[in-house]
Amino acid sequence: MKCELLGLVLGLLIWAVWAMITEGRHRRSEELRQLPPGPKRWPVVGNIFQLGWTPHESFARLARKHGPIMTLWLGSMSTVVVSSSDVAREMFKNHDVVLAGRKIYEAMKGDYGNEGSLITAQYSPHWRMLRRLCTTEFFVTSRLNAMQGVRSRCIDQMVKFVADAGKSDTGAIDVGRFFFLMAFNLIGNLIFSKDLLDPKSERGANFFYHAGKVMELAGKPNVADFLPILRWFDPQGIRRKTQFHVERAFEIAGGFIRERMESMEDGCGKEKRRDYLDVLLDYRGDGVEGPLRFSSRTINVIVFEMFTAGTDTTTSTLEWAMAELLHNPKTLKKLQAELRSVVGGPNKKLKEKDMESLLYLKAVIKETLRLHPPLPFLVPHMAMDSCNMLGYHIPKETQILVNVWEIGRDPKTWEEPLKFKPERFMEPNMVDYKGHHFEYIPFGSGRRMCPAIPLASRVLPLALGSLLHSFDWTLPEGVKPEDMDMSERMGITLRKAVPLKAIPVPYKV
Ligand code: HEM
Repeated sequence: MKCELLGLVLGLLIWAVWAMITEGRHRRSEELRQLPPGPKRWPVVGNIFQLGWTPHESFARLARKHGPIMTLWLGSMSTVVVSSSDVAREMFKNHDVVLAGRKIYEAMKGDYGNEGSLITAQYSPHWRMLRRLCTTEFFVTSRLNAMQGVRSRCIDQMVKFVADAGKSDTGAIDVGRFFFLMAFNLIGNLIFSKDLLDPKSERGANFFYHAGKVMELAGKPNVADFLPILRWFDPQGIRRKTQFHVERAFEIAGGFIRERMESMEDGCGKEKRRDYLDVLLDYRGDGVEGPLRFSSRTINVIVFEMFTAGTDTTTSTLEWAMAELLHNPKTLKKLQAELRSVVGGPNKKLKEKDMESLLYLKAVIKETLRLHPPLPFLVPHMAMDSCNMLGYHIPKETQILVNVWEIGRDPKTWEEPLKFKPERFMEPNMVDYKGHHFEYIPFGSGRRMCPAIPLASRVLPLALGSLLHSFDWTLPEGVKPEDMDMSERMGITLRKAVPLKAIPVPYKV
């Protein structure tokens, strides 16, 4: 232990001296070429101390001073922050390919590697093959239509869980937890056709536990990302712990994969279902852009990524939507009136086909994504080569963060930007989130934008609408809507700092 500490201190000292010498040289050479402007940086740590607990807010404040394209140094990691729709347009329209790389953080690295990972793949033939799989197999309309029953079942289960939990003494439930369970169960069903939350499934519970741990670890700030010498020490143990939980989750998922392969050999079950696991096992590549077949390891990575990409984003959006509605009771009333007039009385159930008539519900989801994008910087991009953007030099391997949180609150674009006003999305020709309107890009834009928009845009209104149709909602005793704590906390996604507690009262006439 003592030796480790001594090694860490010595290593740090040597690195600090080396970094100061090389940094001076590096800075002079970079100054010759014009980087975007930015705040003064400290030796070694750069601008790390300006990050704060809510970096999207800190960066927005800095951008007001230094401009909508700004350079920051997170330790030795050079970062360009994009904070306006005009700069985002320039980035995605004219530099999309060169800026379509990914900055890989420590928690994402490990023996499990990046083979099969779409999120962390650099822009390459391998990425193109995985992306094609997503758009033509997973999130294509025909498959989504065929899986409507799976979504409906998972939502019904959530409504039942909420009804049961609401019968407790206080009746107040942690709303986000129920959305998380629904999202997790839904993805489990889309992939494995299995209810991972079935109380009888020990393997399901263990998978849920380890996947949850990985997401928790991925959301923690890690000093090793900013100071390269610390990577070797992994001082917070984030890489080691992530690796441990990923391996356990892979073992469980590996068991599901093996069982499926055996049942396929027996010719059982397949005619009844075609889930994502069937798609992955049936995959045949050309051996050039992708392998001839996926290994079980690669399938594991793809599967695991669906859980990490899909659960926290969905939960964050739905929890914020509920929080904003309880914070704005008139909006909540208006939405419930719409739901109950379109869907009908308490014995009726919200269906996907009702969505066409539920314009206000869809506007509520859009307004939530404007004010509370779950990924306020998108997923960090990286310059794959140096380029010139708006007259500034962007060196190769620079991290690019697009502050979509700030872009969605820009008073030049949005009237009363801090108000929760779904009505703005009811206006004719209003912007949408498909990546063409750079004032509003909660799913990103260009080549790396979220491939799951077709799934998310079905699940989000269905989940929120079902809970609002089935229950009336009140705040716990003593909490007034205007006193609700609406502050934010940054983890893997942008969550409510204080989890939302509310009481569901079954809808009766
Ligand atoms: C509220 C729901 C969601 C939001 C707001 C959201 C948002 C995003 C954003 C901002 C990105 C990064 C775009 C960029 O870097 O330019 C992304 C990427 C991605 N999302 Fe989503 N997402 C959501 C739901 C989902 C779901 C349900 C899944 C899968 C089940 C999913 C799978 C992915 C994947 C695989 C990527 C990586 C794409 C790539 O790197 O090429 N997302 N998402």
